[in-house]
Amino acid sequence: MQSQRFYPPAHFSNAAHIKTLSEYTERYQESIQNPDAFWAREAQRLTWIRPWDTVRDVDFHDVRIRWFAGGQLNVAYNCVDRHVQRGLGQRTAIIWEGNEPGQSRKISYQELQSQIEHFAAALRGLGVKKGDRVCIFMQMIPELPVAMLACARLGAVHSVVFGAFSAESLRDRINDSCCKILITQDTGVRGNKQDIPMKAKGDLALRETPSIEKVIVVKRTGATIAMQSGRDIYLHDLLAEAPPSCPAEPMDAEDPLFILYTSGSTGKPKGVLHTTGGYLLHTALTHELVFDYRPEDIYWCTADLGWVTGHSYIIYGPLCNAATTVIYEGVPNYPDFSRFWQIIEKYKVNLFYTAPTALRALMREGDGWPGQCDLSSLRLLGSVGEPIKAPEWLWYHHMIGQGRCPIVDTWWQTETGGILISPLPGATPTKPGSATLPFFGVEPVLLDPSGKELHGEASGLLCLKSAGPGQMRTVYGDHERFKQTYFSQFPGYYFTGDGARRDEDGYYWITGRVDDVLNVSGHRIGTAEVEGAIGMTAGVAEAAVVGFPHDLKGQGIYAFVTPMQGIHGSTDLEKAIKESVRQHIGSHATPDKVQFTHGLPKTRSGKIMRRILRKIAENEPDAIGDISTLADPSVVESLIAERK
Ligand code: WT7
Repeated sequence: MQSQRFYPPAHFSNAAHIKTLSEYTERYQESIQNPDAFWAREAQRLTWIRPWDTVRDVDFHDVRIRWFAGGQLNVAYNCVDRHVQRGLGQRTAIIWEGNEPGQSRKISYQELQSQIEHFAAALRGLGVKKGDRVCIFMQMIPELPVAMLACARLGAVHSVVFGAFSAESLRDRINDSCCKILITQDTGVRGNKQDIPMKAKGDLALRETPSIEKVIVVKRTGATIAMQSGRDIYLHDLLAEAPPSCPAEPMDAEDPLFILYTSGSTGKPKGVLHTTGGYLLHTALTHELVFDYRPEDIYWCTADLGWVTGHSYIIYGPLCNAATTVIYEGVPNYPDFSRFWQIIEKYKVNLFYTAPTALRALMREGDGWPGQCDLSSLRLLGSVGEPIKAPEWLWYHHMIGQGRCPIVDTWWQTETGGILISPLPGATPTKPGSATLPFFGVEPVLLDPSGKELHGEASGLLCLKSAGPGQMRTVYGDHERFKQTYFSQFPGYYFTGDGARRDEDGYYWITGRVDDVLNVSGHRIGTAEVEGAIGMTAGVAEAAVVGFPHDLKGQGIYAFVTPMQGIHGSTDLEKAIKESVRQHIGSHATPDKVQFTHGLPKTRSGKIMRRILRKIAENEPDAIGDISTLADPSVVESLIAERK
């Protein structure tokens, strides 16, 4: 089927950084054939304390990834100080929009520098130094980016934990990287929730985190919270004692910048490690070219700072480019479904980057909400996190972009640090649902299950032969696991975990994960972790978790659970199961459906056949196929009959 194409409007292309497809192709070829020259030139956009000795030293067989070795720079200096020195101190760096309409703050680059320096000096006063790990557990408040950048200024490695995670998840992340400090807030507000217990969750986690020495608490709501003397201190008290300034630590290009935990198909979450020079270059360059960022644009990415999109495209990329970046504390439907569009109107947002799950939820509420707002400031729209399907793509294009704004569907992962496959909006004709073509320096390939490279039009496993400077360097503390997880399936290639199709124009269509990882409202969830949490519920013998198509979330979580002998699958047990998942992982991983069963489909050697469970959850029993290898084929029939 020939899909509809949308060409970049002439007025957009004429003013764009990359104006034509042939210009894109030419630069892409250069980036692949002569990467050293390409990246050495692009790296001039950063301010280096010391130039690098070698541009790149990358080997996907030995699994060694190093960029700009020998070079020195500081990320906070690059994101803030140098803009102030160039006379941009009065430009707004951050527009913070609070949960309640009318509640907002603007922070200029000058103010941001002062706040970062002061925060960094306070951290230094607590003994934090280069290389120390600092855990940040907060909602979307201005102190969060300030804390991240204060760490970067000192050379401390931040590990931001998404605010919905449970105390246990927080504890495990703190322990995995032996964080010395926890930065959190009293309580949080988000939509109708006015008292999200952040510090209290932190206290629970900290019962079993021997490495934590101090807890810094930001006063967001003024709620009464327990403070442990000698350990906990309010940020404002700490700042009152700290000197106002703090020099930026010279960092090696390959020194760690941050750790961000992400779920895979097996085992505990991995600490994805990103480093200094290559990461900053990749996020800054992609922010400029993929969003066609121009000075003084107002840019808004709706992601949460607890995920990589927030790190790369709310903070590091945009600030490195001296952009004005919007940070919104709340949710799309509070106080009503016009909130996103109200914010765009209020700040005259030019570049808007959001997720298909939000678009689906807003689209369902009708055209009246965006229709009542002035969206004429918008110039470009972005999408990230999961495949965007044609209906929401077209609604985004017509209703939000009013037919005027190119859409960039950006494919990437926590592991890749920044965007790898995306249109360049002035150059690339788009097709709804396709992330289109690789960014500079990125070589995607499609492999068949035996590892053979497929050419031309094909469907296969999406792997990378090369990925540019933003790629993760290792799994924190476990390089073997890094190799095993991403490079062992197909030697010489990085395996993404995604399947994809390449069409007649060489465009990529991401079809979704091919491993046991779910994408629920853009949140990445490992089925093995959910199964583990369900298995800890009293009365549960065994559980298997798969995804199923969900109108709003993209994927929902479907759990098949076998109760212990003599226990009945009751609504009480279902409640306990959900509570267990919330307690062990977090509310975002709560199963949507729980089906009790007396048995799971297993092979004679005892392996659960997830393929069958997936088909049942997807309500495609006719596609189940051969079940003759099952130890007890009769379970399939009852699973189908009792489907939820
Ligand atoms: C997985 C990575 C990208 C940062 C946020 C999520 C899926 C992401 C797209 C897209 C289709 C996408 C993939 C990927 N994904 N963007 N534009 N089209 N699928 O990062 O939590 O590390 O998840 O999200 O399956 O592997 P993440």
